Amino acid sequence: MNIRCATPEDLMNMQHCNLLCLPENYQMKYYFYHGLSWPQLSYVAEDEGGKIVGYVLAKMEEDPEDSVPHGHITSLAVKRSHRRLGLAQKLMDQASRAMVECFNAQYVSLHVRKSNRAALHLYTETLKFSISEVEPKYYADGEDAYAMRRDLSEFRDKISSRADCSFSTYGTCLQGQLLCDRALVAGSV
Ligand SMILES: CC(C)(COP(=O)(O)OP(=O)(O)OC[C@H]1O[C@@H](n2cnc3c(N)ncnc32)[C@H](O)[C@@H]1OP(=O)(O)O)[C@@H](O)C(=O)NCCC(=O)NCCS
Repeated sequence: MNIRCATPEDLMNMQHCNLLCLPENYQMKYYFYHGLSWPQLSYVAEDEGGKIVGYVLAKMEEDPEDSVPHGHITSLAVKRSHRRLGLAQKLMDQASRAMVECFNAQYVSLHVRKSNRAALHLYTETLKFSISEVEPKYYADGEDAYAMRRDLSEFRDKISSRADCSFSTYGTCLQGQLLCDRALVAGSV
């Protein structure tokens, strides 16, 4: 199993995985919008045969109301056959770290259905998100959403302790590729 930065060629398979796993689906152009605008932030999990079994689709908030740079998780899913292996946790951590490294994100936000027990457990217990507000009838079927946030200072601290390195992670990361290469190495599970 491998976790790596998503490429444009992965986007259709990510959409396929999304259709299998979630009622919230997006047009292909929305995947391309993410992939082209923030190529560093979306990740895929692939099996030994290179088949995509999970993904996280992520972006930066473009005009944050609070003027604080922060990322947003648009969608996360892992195929049933590959759940409870830690893939979602790793995908979320890779995307969050990239948000900090590349865009100096202070926190990451997302929405989750009130009834989504598995995701809520992942977010609150494993990833230490907290609920920022309840958004009534957020979903098309009328279900409420929890808006959640995770503070990213844990990643900022790790990155600043590495800043003694002789090259600028931030500058290199903006070129996109190094982060993807590093994720290929670091993401093996
Ligand atoms: C939610 C989802 C992404 C979790 O993916 P996953 O790869 O199985 O999650 P992980 O293996 O990384 O789980 C990490 C931790 O999250 C929690 N968790 C994950 N699935 C859980 C479940 N079904 N019930 C309770 N806790 C769960 C556990 O604490 C788990 O740690 P543990 O296995 O050591 O107990 C996956 O179930 C999924 O794709 N669901 C459908 C799509 C979805 O709901 N996406 C989120 C939309 S907001």
